Amino acid sequence: MKGVWGLVLSLFVVGCSANDGLPVASHTMFPSGFKFGAATASYQVEGGWNADGKGMNIWDNITHERPDFIADRTNGDVADDSYRKYKEDVQILKSIGFQMYRFSISWARVLPTGRIDNVNQAGLDYYMNLIDELRANGIEPMVTMYHWDLPQTLQDIGGWLNADIAQIFADYADLLFKTYGDKVKWWVTINEPLSVVTGYSADNFAPALNMAGIGDYVSGHNLLRAHAKAYRLYQQKYSHQRGKVSMAFCGNICQPLTLSPEDVAAADRCYQFSYGWFAHPTFFGDYHPILRQLVDKNSKMEGRNESRLPRFTEEEIADLAGSVDYVGLNYYGPLMAWNGSAGSIPSRDHDAQVRYKFDDSWEVCPSSWMRVVPQGLRLLTNKVKEEYGNPMVIITENGVSDDGTDPLNDLQRISYYERHLAELRRAIYEDGCNVVGHTSWSIMDNFEWRDGYTKKFGMVSVDYGSPSRTRTFKKSAYWFQNYLAMHKLYQ
Ligand code: NOJ
Repeated sequence: MKGVWGLVLSLFVVGCSANDGLPVASHTMFPSGFKFGAATASYQVEGGWNADGKGMNIWDNITHERPDFIADRTNGDVADDSYRKYKEDVQILKSIGFQMYRFSISWARVLPTGRIDNVNQAGLDYYMNLIDELRANGIEPMVTMYHWDLPQTLQDIGGWLNADIAQIFADYADLLFKTYGDKVKWWVTINEPLSVVTGYSADNFAPALNMAGIGDYVSGHNLLRAHAKAYRLYQQKYSHQRGKVSMAFCGNICQPLTLSPEDVAAADRCYQFSYGWFAHPTFFGDYHPILRQLVDKNSKMEGRNESRLPRFTEEEIADLAGSVDYVGLNYYGPLMAWNGSAGSIPSRDHDAQVRYKFDDSWEVCPSSWMRVVPQGLRLLTNKVKEEYGNPMVIITENGVSDDGTDPLNDLQRISYYERHLAELRRAIYEDGCNVVGHTSWSIMDNFEWRDGYTKKFGMVSVDYGSPSRTRTFKKSAYWFQNYLAMHKLYQ
């Protein structure tokens, strides 16, 4: 690997192959057993927002109360109508050749008030039917329990800021393990905890509370407590189901602006304050020392008696340590980072003391928050290998948006996947990273949160003008079909 990416990578790749820096025989296939899949989330595709007893969640609420919160003033009331069209979705997955489908359960669909004393059988049946349909078509379900759509009744008591939510979440997890656990072997407790906490630090995601530097740390703490409780519950009560439980982490993987020790350390902090904020405790039981040190120091300087970063009890530390059976990684693109003060006081950016930007040379795409830089995926998998002792990894999300102007001609997406999958193979074969699967985001266009339907991440287009939400393959769907057929051929 050449150039600055090679240098950055070599910071992580200890004992790298003798070929580093030289052309290497490239592996064209993935190891046998590698799983390919695609992903969605309940609020983004299901619709049926009030069907058959479903309760209200925070995204129903915010899109109804504040239509201007969403770029095109839309919402997920109908979305892709997957609540009714799930059988068609399964056929699409099957015909492309995917072996796995990562979808999420709408908490308020199965527990309208969020709590275990009020179970909605119709909601439970919907997911059972989906799971059965997938399995009957040879597709393995990977189930996310929480992909941002908190029942509104739980938000009304503080949402993730309320410490009680950890047990309430564990009760919900218990119901899911009990109901689906003999059929589901891959679980994600929480999707992108870092994005969830952004809902408590900025007017960005629901519930859109502006409590930077405080709300994010408290909600993040409770997300970790909730995850640990669910994980231990599975081990104690459901280990006979022999499934694997993790989170889908997201964050920033950074190339340092220069190779000065300060910038290299800043790039590391950028990781530790994002992916690492949540991943580190699931391996070692507590926050990475750099978070503890910097947030404690700043809290003191702000004249507080206590750190803004809460502390785990001894029991929580024991529950958290080793609480992932694999690592779910969501990756879209990297950042360029350097040492310097940033952000308002208090805020996570200020605590991290990192400045970041995109490099001007990086390829743009319609979503302004990301750039297309395939090497970043290899860098990320190497970072995870180095930080946590080469755990089993699944890339739980990876993809790029289009803006729908030439809806079926998504050449950038083909190039994105082609190059990212090549980097993943390098990570596996050249660097020894233990990556065992990849679920693309996304199988079809869907409600892209604040961007509404203006940014489209699907390899299948959805016609939002048609009441039947007609699905049509884009070029990338055909490309994937070929890619997976080749993969199968050489297994
Ligand atoms: C991550 C989120 O998990 C997903 O919901 C979102 O649509 C994609 N990123 C693209 O922004």
